[in-house]
Amino acid sequence: MLQVLNLSKRFGGMLAVDDLSFTVNAGEIVGLLGPNGAGKTTTIRCVASLLQPTSGNILLNGHDVSDDPVAAKRALAFVPEVPNPYEMLTVMEHLRFVAAAYGMEEELVHAEEILTRLDLWEKKNDLGASLSKGMRQKLACACAFIHRAQVFCFDEPLIGLDPKGMRELKGMMMERRAQGNAMLVSTHMLDTAERLCDRVVILKRGKLIAEGTVAELKERLQSSSDVSLEDMFLELTEEIPGS
Ligand SMILES: Nc1ncnc2c1ncn2[C@@H]1O[C@H](COP(=O)(O)OP(=O)(O)OP(=O)(O)O)[C@@H](O)[C@H]1O
Ligand SMILES: [Mg+2]
Repeated sequence: MLQVLNLSKRFGGMLAVDDLSFTVNAGEIVGLLGPNGAGKTTTIRCVASLLQPTSGNILLNGHDVSDDPVAAKRALAFVPEVPNPYEMLTVMEHLRFVAAAYGMEEELVHAEEILTRLDLWEKKNDLGASLSKGMRQKLACACAFIHRAQVFCFDEPLIGLDPKGMRELKGMMMERRAQGNAMLVSTHMLDTAERLCDRVVILKRGKLIAEGTVAELKERLQSSSDVSLEDMFLELTEEIPGS
């Protein structure tokens, strides 16, 4: 599971993440939502140890990212907002590299299935430099799925994928959930979040402003049952002039 405890991240005078706490349990997909600049990527980059938190703690499968970085990183598979494949490695070499880095070469038996589902099998010998934007994203997802991580963090994984890619990726996320993995997914696609996520965490200006199942949020906002997550999101994140 993933635990984010009182996380704050400051960039100069700007508090991008402000005392944020939430948990993603094993067997759960949690949506990380919020307007542009709300702090989603900053939070995920702290979870992935790409940014040093200003304060607070992050635990991956019980291992503190600061105190026990090796064990914490082993527990995590991370797909960044803008995937950057190695230009001179082929698609297949990326998977071999990740499997070797995690000491999980036996997982390469799944490479053909994963690449086929993501329409990358025919590209297996193509270099990273030659891949289209969506293919780069699919490759980053394939690299995440090749090793046995307990926690998955995806930053806007669906943007830029074709419809089949989106459907396959959502299917693969749901399979990993069923296997007991904890998944955190940032997205602006609220229809998808409503269907895919067990719970959502909504950020605004770095602060958690709402958390729970869509049904719980509806109850809290006293909304009728036909109100969508999109309606609630817009209500919750509305900028009130002068506030
Ligand atoms: N390296 C950085 N240096 C300075 N400020 C930063 C840096 N990275 C992010 N920020 C600021 O932190 C805030 C949060 O940015 P972040 O990228 O986490 O937002 P986000 O929720 O992922 O937004 P989006 O939906 O646009 O991806 C923004 O105000 C941004 O300008
Ligand atoms: Mg972002």
